[in-house]
Amino acid sequence: MWKYQAFLITLASSAALAAVDLSKFPSKTDPTKFTIPDIPQTTSLDVATECQYYQSNFTIEKSEWPTIWDIATSNNMNTSTEFTNLYNSIDWTQAPKAPVRSMTPQGGLNLVGYDTVNDPDCWWSATQCVKPKAQGTNGDISTCPEPETWGLTFDDGPNCSHNAFYDYLETNKQRASMFYIGSNVLNWPYGALRGLKDGHHLCGHTWSHKMMTTLTNQEVLAELYYTAKAIKYVTGITPLYWRPALGDLDDRVRWIGTQLNMTAILWNLDTDDWAANSTPGITPDTVNGKYLDYIKMGSNGTFAKSGNIVLSHEINNMTMDFFVDHYPAIKENYKHVVDIATCQNIAHPYLEEVITFPSFEASTSQNASTATGSGVVPGATGASSAGNTNSFNGPLFIASLFGLLLVAV
Ligand SMILES: *[C@@H]1O[C@H](CO)[C@@H](O)[C@H](O)[C@H]1NC(C)=O
Ligand SMILES: *[C@@H]1O[C@H](CO)[C@@H](O)[C@H](O)[C@H]1NC(C)=O
Ligand SMILES: *[C@@H]1O[C@H](CO)[C@@H](O)[C@H](O)[C@H]1NC(C)=O
Ligand SMILES: *[C@@H]1O[C@H](CO)[C@@H](O)[C@H](O)[C@H]1NC(C)=O
Ligand SMILES: *[C@@H]1O[C@H](CO)[C@@H](O)[C@H](O)[C@H]1NC(C)=O
Ligand SMILES: *[C@@H]1O[C@H](CO)[C@@H](O)[C@H](O)[C@H]1NC(C)=O
Ligand SMILES: *[C@@H]1O[C@H](CO)[C@@H](O)[C@H](O)[C@H]1NC(C)=O
Ligand SMILES: [Zn+2]
Repeated sequence: MWKYQAFLITLASSAALAAVDLSKFPSKTDPTKFTIPDIPQTTSLDVATECQYYQSNFTIEKSEWPTIWDIATSNNMNTSTEFTNLYNSIDWTQAPKAPVRSMTPQGGLNLVGYDTVNDPDCWWSATQCVKPKAQGTNGDISTCPEPETWGLTFDDGPNCSHNAFYDYLETNKQRASMFYIGSNVLNWPYGALRGLKDGHHLCGHTWSHKMMTTLTNQEVLAELYYTAKAIKYVTGITPLYWRPALGDLDDRVRWIGTQLNMTAILWNLDTDDWAANSTPGITPDTVNGKYLDYIKMGSNGTFAKSGNIVLSHEINNMTMDFFVDHYPAIKENYKHVVDIATCQNIAHPYLEEVITFPSFEASTSQNASTATGSGVVPGATGASSAGNTNSFNGPLFIASLFGLLLVAV
């Protein structure tokens, strides 16, 4: 039931920004009042049916976006007036001077020569540093502060084939932080809308999923900017939180995120779920073993004083099933399983303050569904289940030929 007071909508986008105003991003979706079309792609549990091409009402003017899955400066985005104005609005003389990193011929990050003892750039990939050394830079979130709490996060969505997974979470009234790749959002807009409708905490996960410290300032800015823009265009909300692919960030990258008023969310436990069967030495047994260890930590005292944030992935059936298989035991061994906005008491994880997340206290007390604060409690409002009929504020949308773009990853 998306029934909210109209006046709340006018409160949107009033937060002051560090340097750049993202509130001008175009969107025709009212995040408090929208519906997902009742078509087989949004309701079926058969992957082939879910992933059939569909015509969405989100017109994608290709000249206005980076090339899907290419670096976000592609398709001349970095010479556009819009991006040039954005770039020039930032005082780059203040930017931390960490060098642009390189990859090894094997495809890993090249850490050779980095001073890990002094860690001058707070480079997470080298040292797991989360407290920036550079001034005026947002520090990372990497744990849930509350005891015996499992911070639930899924990377790399949305995707066409995840109806069963979102149904499962919805049935269990379970919210998570979802880190969406900008290219995926434009490919599968109804997948992204499903995440918002179910009250998940939506965050950015870059446009093309590259190692962020290997990108130039301009490329880092474009990766963050166009992802936020894509999420806003489709869902009507602008994420203030993001996660770099493989956690690869340093103070230079953090500082650029800060210019967009964004804060990184990392993790302190990694399931390695995505790597099973594709990385030598990592099998499904390895991943199940990690889940079992992390589950045990919930009741053996490891998290008696604070909680965790666990990295897991949507990506594919295998990674989703790892979670589904272990979820009952997670719930038994932890007092709370929550998204990160909730465990961190972030009431407004989006620029649009019409969406309000409950405090940890309210969310975990029996009265969660009545803890409305001054805005919308995501997911706790009895939002209709997938497949209910509706229209996206109908007339505002123009039917387009755009549906799914083919993705090669
Ligand atoms: C724009 O981005 C492309 C791809 O990253 C890069 O090759 C090119 O040099 C950039 N152009 C300008 C004017 O910055
Ligand atoms: C994975 O695939 C199996 C077999 O098709 C299906 O039963 C299961 O629901 C899928 N899991 C998820 C999370 O979609
Ligand atoms: C965004 O900016 C507002 C106002 O300056 C500030 O209160 C908020 O903490 C910032 N959020 C993030 C994620 O940096
Ligand atoms: C709790 O379990 C984990 C995972 O098996 C283990 O590494 C850790 O040492 C245990 N801690 C205590 C206090 O028993
Ligand atoms: C989307 O899901 C399909 C089917 O599970 C999978 O093969 C594909 O890799 C996914 N695409 C992305 C970009 O994650
Ligand atoms: C829950 O709501 C009831 C009735 O409104 C109230 O009496 C009670 O104090 C609330 N409990 C909590 C933990 O907020
Ligand atoms: C798209 O918008 C049109 C016009 O408002 C509406 O009739 C149609 O149902 C919408 N289609 C989808 C798939 O949302
Ligand atoms: Zn990822």
